[in-house]
Amino acid sequence: ETPDLREMLLGRIKDVPDHPKPGVMFKDITPLLADAEAFSALTGALAELCVRYRADKVVGLEARGFILAAPVAVRAGLGFVPVRKAGKLPGATLGQSYDLEYGTAEIEIHADALAPGDRVMVIDDVLATGGTAEASLQLIRRAGGEIAGLAVLLELGFLDGRGKLAAELRDAPLEAL
Ligand code: PRP
Repeated sequence: ETPDLREMLLGRIKDVPDHPKPGVMFKDITPLLADAEAFSALTGALAELCVRYRADKVVGLEARGFILAAPVAVRAGLGFVPVRKAGKLPGATLGQSYDLEYGTAEIEIHADALAPGDRVMVIDDVLATGGTAEASLQLIRRAGGEIAGLAVLLELGFLDGRGKLAAELRDAPLEAL
């Protein structure tokens, strides 16, 4: 994306050492969210990606991914589908376990959330190890969707989530703003 956008976004993400446990450098996006101009620029850029990659639906990954994906869906004129931590969705679900940077978890999607062939833009705040995103791509395909793309605010390149995701992405783009 444009250097100006990149600098605006990076300048509003705060490094918090030793959160949620010692040795982890937490990337706090709340200063960015609190800045109307930066938040709008971010959701606008993500909505443009939905158009570029011809998405039919926006999937957000709980919880911080929801904050971005919901306004992006509205801006792009698309519906929003949540991928939630296990046990939260009320209907029939598909589930996928995965390893997290700190711990393990399971995520779910409503089994009927997507129409067959729906092109899905997956949105999250941070790509770290890639475990969450990989499980999400698997869930979306099992639910009948196609991956239009995966878009994140921030990619932690040193963890090589991009490498972990390569096989599951197939030819779909991974965009980190
Ligand atoms: C964070 C982040 C991504 C994921 C990235 O979410 O928002 O979803 O971790 O890590 P990974 O690439 O190593 O899988 P977290 O599970 O902490 O949940 P939250 O958004 O509910 O805080």
